[in-house]
Amino acid sequence: MEVIILSGSRPIASLAADAIEALLRRKPGAVLGLATGSSPLPVYNELALRHERDGLDFSQARGFALDEYVGLPPGHPESYREVIRREFTERVNISPANVHGPDGAAEDIPGSCRAYEDAIRDAGGVDLQLLGVGTDGHIGFNEPASSLASRTRIKTLIEQTRRDNARFFGSLAEVPHHVLTQGLGTILDARHVILIATGAQKAQSVRDLVEGPVAAICPASVLQLHPHATILVDEAAASSLRLADYYRHSYDNKPSWQRL
Ligand code: F6R
Repeated sequence: MEVIILSGSRPIASLAADAIEALLRRKPGAVLGLATGSSPLPVYNELALRHERDGLDFSQARGFALDEYVGLPPGHPESYREVIRREFTERVNISPANVHGPDGAAEDIPGSCRAYEDAIRDAGGVDLQLLGVGTDGHIGFNEPASSLASRTRIKTLIEQTRRDNARFFGSLAEVPHHVLTQGLGTILDARHVILIATGAQKAQSVRDLVEGPVAAICPASVLQLHPHATILVDEAAASSLRLADYYRHSYDNKPSWQRL
């Protein structure tokens, strides 16, 4: 696990975009794992800028969303399919046919979750998975007590997460209780994961995920088992890390040949 502490969202977005750009240049048909929420938005802005300004090409790229609400009407502005379209994919030249998400309106939820896993596998697996982290330590919508080996499935949101996400909806009552999410086992299969956390409200989750035990009470701690996990945090989100100085020292002295 590499922990990189940066001064704010801009340098974090720039570093994450560098990794995605490098991936697309060496593998134009790369499979990107797409998160929603606030944390990845600066990355999507940066990628849209690089597409516009430098011609960064997404024409062969594929995308798989991490999660989706259950029960929102098709086209609801806060459905993650819509958020990803609005914030990212319609701003670059990725083909809409190459962007997939769990189907929160499926009649056969278990069957559609299995089909989603199959689609990720058939695409060759996720090359780079972007992640945020919840204030309760969730990644995707794998809430505390999720199986560390879980695959895509339905989950019930914890009230804290519903309250956190109410800012995107008109009121708490409008936030669905159920979601579909890639499992922790699914996320672990991605070749590289980049988790972004900013702000003091994430400090406890970041400490638990980086320095706590691997435990289902903090689902993000499962990333300690991932061979290539990059944790990008600002000073506020890093403020509870015991070994912050060590992470700074390691990054400042990183061999120049080592990529993210
Ligand atoms: C969203 C997702 C969630 C968010 C997390 C943090 O697709 O999977 O795990 O990343 O809830 O959300 P923000 O970034 O809004 O704080």
